Amino acid sequence: MIIKKAIIPAAGLGTRVLPASKAVPKEMLPIVDKPAIQYIVEEAVASGITDILIITNRGKGVIEDHFDHSLELESMMKTRGNYGMLSELQSVAKLANIYFVRQKETKGLGDAVLKAESFVGGEPFAVLYGDDVIIGEPPATKELCEAYEKYGKGVVGIKEVPDELLVKYSSLKVEKKDERVYEVSDMIEKPAIGNKFSNFSVLGRCVLTPEIFDILRNTTLGVGNELQLTDAMKTLARRDGMIGVDFHATRYDMGNKFGMIKANIEVALSHREIGEQTREYIKELAKTL
Ligand code: UTP
Repeated sequence: MIIKKAIIPAAGLGTRVLPASKAVPKEMLPIVDKPAIQYIVEEAVASGITDILIITNRGKGVIEDHFDHSLELESMMKTRGNYGMLSELQSVAKLANIYFVRQKETKGLGDAVLKAESFVGGEPFAVLYGDDVIIGEPPATKELCEAYEKYGKGVVGIKEVPDELLVKYSSLKVEKKDERVYEVSDMIEKPAIGNKFSNFSVLGRCVLTPEIFDILRNTTLGVGNELQLTDAMKTLARRDGMIGVDFHATRYDMGNKFGMIKANIEVALSHREIGEQTREYIKELAKTL
């Protein structure tokens, strides 16, 4: 795999999941027994990524702690003979080379991506949005990296979404190229109803080349007075075209309350310890609804 570096922007304020995200970063909110961002790091690693830069801000130090060793807990698990949990805790600290940089002001996803310029060092890189957990096989980032290798252009992860969600995301001008692969020639961030190209939207993952940094520097502030990554990708799509990959895995939007609940229910249903119990509980509960 050519792409070895990924960035995870996780410096947003998470206002849609307040008050849960007041003191705990939304990327650290759990899906059953792991914080959301661990699923994202695991997806990157399963996609061949070896070096990850997580973009954080004040109050997000717990993300750094999570991917470090916890010597007290590890020695306690050893004393108790809980070797399963010991190796799970140790493996989190060894998943990849993980680096951190702070976005000092929350000025948008595009501004967060700009903070990764020196880390990227002239190589193409993957972006995994810190609040989009994508679970399933093949890993979504792997599908996007493979598309980059095949077509040699920036790639966006895409899915069709209903109109009521499209206005919150983006709308893409697409032309089918191959099975689940599209040529993307234009896009609009948060389109007004009736102003869409298609129901395909960029969801949570992309592969970009370093030329995005110059484009970002020349992009004016967009929706919410923030530097929008979609606006820079629009310039790239119009100029060189981009590739859209309708990835197979399931995406959960951990930036909103319903997305968090769906992720927890679905992951719990297939969890080795509590899957059966959850299934029985939901069946009983459904009878009362
Ligand atoms: P969102 O726009 O969904 O995150 O950005 P947000 O700003 O936290 O959301 P709300 O609307 O206030 O609830 C998508 C991803 O980009 C990161 C976020 O952490 C999230 O993972 N992000 C966003 C940054 O890193 N920096 C920013 O300035 C904005």
